[in-house]
Amino acid sequence: MKNMHTTLPTEQQVIDHSAEQQFCDDVIAGLTATPKYLEAKYFYDSTGDELFQKIMNSPEYYPTDCELEIFTEQTAELAKAIMANGDPFDLIELGAGDAMKSTHLLRYLLNADAKFTYLPIDISGHVISYLQNTLPITLPGLRLNGLTGEYFDMLNKATTLSPKRKVVMFLGSNIGNMPVADAENFCMELRSHLSPGDIVLMGVDLKKDPRTILAAYNDAEGNTRQFNLNLLTRINRELNANFDLDKFEHYPMYDPETGSCKSYLISLADQQVELCDHTVEFAKDEYIYMEISQKYTVSQVNYMALHAGFKPAGHFCDSKNWFMDTIWVAV
Ligand code: AVI
Repeated sequence: MKNMHTTLPTEQQVIDHSAEQQFCDDVIAGLTATPKYLEAKYFYDSTGDELFQKIMNSPEYYPTDCELEIFTEQTAELAKAIMANGDPFDLIELGAGDAMKSTHLLRYLLNADAKFTYLPIDISGHVISYLQNTLPITLPGLRLNGLTGEYFDMLNKATTLSPKRKVVMFLGSNIGNMPVADAENFCMELRSHLSPGDIVLMGVDLKKDPRTILAAYNDAEGNTRQFNLNLLTRINRELNANFDLDKFEHYPMYDPETGSCKSYLISLADQQVELCDHTVEFAKDEYIYMEISQKYTVSQVNYMALHAGFKPAGHFCDSKNWFMDTIWVAV
């Protein structure tokens, strides 16, 4: 205890400090911009993770169920598409999370004697150590190499680790959390890390009855509402701010013309919030833009593939045609 203040910070403390500074800088940048915004990547603290689990279990949030149906009902076809000519491959998953859906595919590939190594990539070290601990038990014989870090840094690393052909999975409609132009750039950057013949398996949420989409982002139990408000709670806790949660309301909207589903927090009063040595003013009815969940048509997705240097090579839909896992081959 005596030496507490003279002890050099551990690497972890240094990292946490710079992460906190980054969080503060990003929040200030967003809340002093016009219009105001917050970055959706900050939703996922431990409460945010729990709320997202609740969202995925809510009756209105269909994307997870639809993609799970594809992975359980069309496993053989998915496996055939990615095994291609039978050459050994690295199966890379961007943002692997709990790998719940991919586990079905991994089990099928193991039973089919496919020669592959599974490389889950996630920004969270917790996620990767969870997978490193659990997957060898659920899937004995799986060759596994978890990578913690940013997607493209880790994709580079994966390329240096082995010259084998790459199959990259980006599931769960995570691509939808980028505006269309950013998604296009993301796909181009993804292509730049791959070689001809490499494969992408991408999960995309499709345009459908606007009421179905809106309900998925406005569940009756209020999990999505809490998920959005939780970011203000996180800012209060971690940045010593004083948001009054009763003075903001969750407002989701879906535009069937553009396919963008957006969430906002609306200020219910003229108010001031203090954070990180700043005072942020909110006018009554002013919004904070929180998140986009973009929906696509099959042809828009095919166009995105071609534009980024891939050939669309088939897709798998759930029985309602609400969600698609599409296969692209790098050309
Ligand atoms: C993680 N992502 C694909 C979810 C989505 O559907 O956009 C995040 C989410 N936000 C609110 N509900 C779900």
